[in-house]
Amino acid sequence: MSLQVGDKINLAIHDLAFGGEGVGRVADFVVFVPFVIVGETVEAEITELKKNFARAKLRRVITPSPERVAPECKYFGACGGCQYQHIEYAAQLRFKHKQIADLFERVGKISPAKIAPVLPCPSPYGYRNRIMIRSQWNGPAKKLVIGFIRADNNFVEDIAECKISEPALNEQIREVRANPPPKGGLKVVLRVQPENWEVPPDSFFQNNFFLLPKLVESVRELLRAGGARHLIDLYCGVGFFGIEAADVVDSFVGVEYDQLAIKAARQNAALRKITNGEFLAAKVEVILPELLQKFTPEKTSVILDPPRKGCWPETLELLRQTQPAQVIYVSCHPATMARDLNILCADGVFELVRVQPLDMFPQTQHVECVADLRRRN
Ligand SMILES: C[S@@+](CC[C@H](N)C(=O)[O-])C[C@H]1O[C@@H](n2cnc3c(N)ncnc32)[C@H](O)[C@@H]1O
Repeated sequence: MSLQVGDKINLAIHDLAFGGEGVGRVADFVVFVPFVIVGETVEAEITELKKNFARAKLRRVITPSPERVAPECKYFGACGGCQYQHIEYAAQLRFKHKQIADLFERVGKISPAKIAPVLPCPSPYGYRNRIMIRSQWNGPAKKLVIGFIRADNNFVEDIAECKISEPALNEQIREVRANPPPKGGLKVVLRVQPENWEVPPDSFFQNNFFLLPKLVESVRELLRAGGARHLIDLYCGVGFFGIEAADVVDSFVGVEYDQLAIKAARQNAALRKITNGEFLAAKVEVILPELLQKFTPEKTSVILDPPRKGCWPETLELLRQTQPAQVIYVSCHPATMARDLNILCADGVFELVRVQPLDMFPQTQHVECVADLRRRN
């Protein structure tokens, strides 16, 4: 292939890869270009050449898609936070569905028919309740910039507001900018505290309050359908799923290694007068062998909501051996989720019934998924 960095080419976009980049071809050579839509023809400039593919930046849309819309944010394209503001919301959901179906088929050997349509967020802008902004000293400009990492390099884009964040967070952004940290290199976490939930400053809580009722409903529905009497809520944070589903089961136990989150989980349960559950501060991979022995597998459902890197192989192997009646896998990282589902389902140990994607992160490449797995026998 005779492409060179700096070449300007016309590209027909035929797919939107996971991560948000459009896919075009020059002969058989794949070129990735961001901020485009399937069906468009664009002019792009090659920025990076690899053995099997190239990356390019968008210079001009020659034939726009009817699904192209004006982004709401003036930093879109420069800021690395959003990838899809230029795409009509209904089309974002369709593209995310296809990306998940393709990924799960390729990595997890899962039939696309098992992937349900993506549940939309009622508020596609103004939904984020937690963000991390960074400060950086910009030497040439001799000023402190405060904002998010840029889309095209690791420098910080100076931003005064974030359109996908809740108004209360934008208020906090204004305060940080009015009283900037004394030097660069600092990260500041801004958060809207959820109502009626105790959450320590560094502990996890779901990032989008608007779609949270649907996430809870999905998990509760699956638990009811699974019919198990006991729930093991692994990676439980401040007790979110165990507490929300406490009335669906006879008993539950939550496991989480963040000790302050566990303390908060106990408070969250007490606040609701929930008495059929307990919370253990431990690493899942350490405590699970002992914990699983206490439950009858046929009467037990397990929720897995691991961090982005997914579950430890030992944890998955133990679940394969013990075979609880149901595993509900919740994840915001479909690639590691597909890998783990493939392991759980190998040799027909578990059967994947369905994957429900939820658009917890509109305008961005991210998507949450909930999978329902049942033991085979
Ligand atoms: C995606 S969050 C889910 C939290 C919770 N299920 C919720 O919905 O709020 C993952 C959680 O796993 C915890 N975690 C990460 N690695 C862990 C491990 N090896 N053992 C136990 N907890 C872990 C993190 O502290 C975090 O709270």
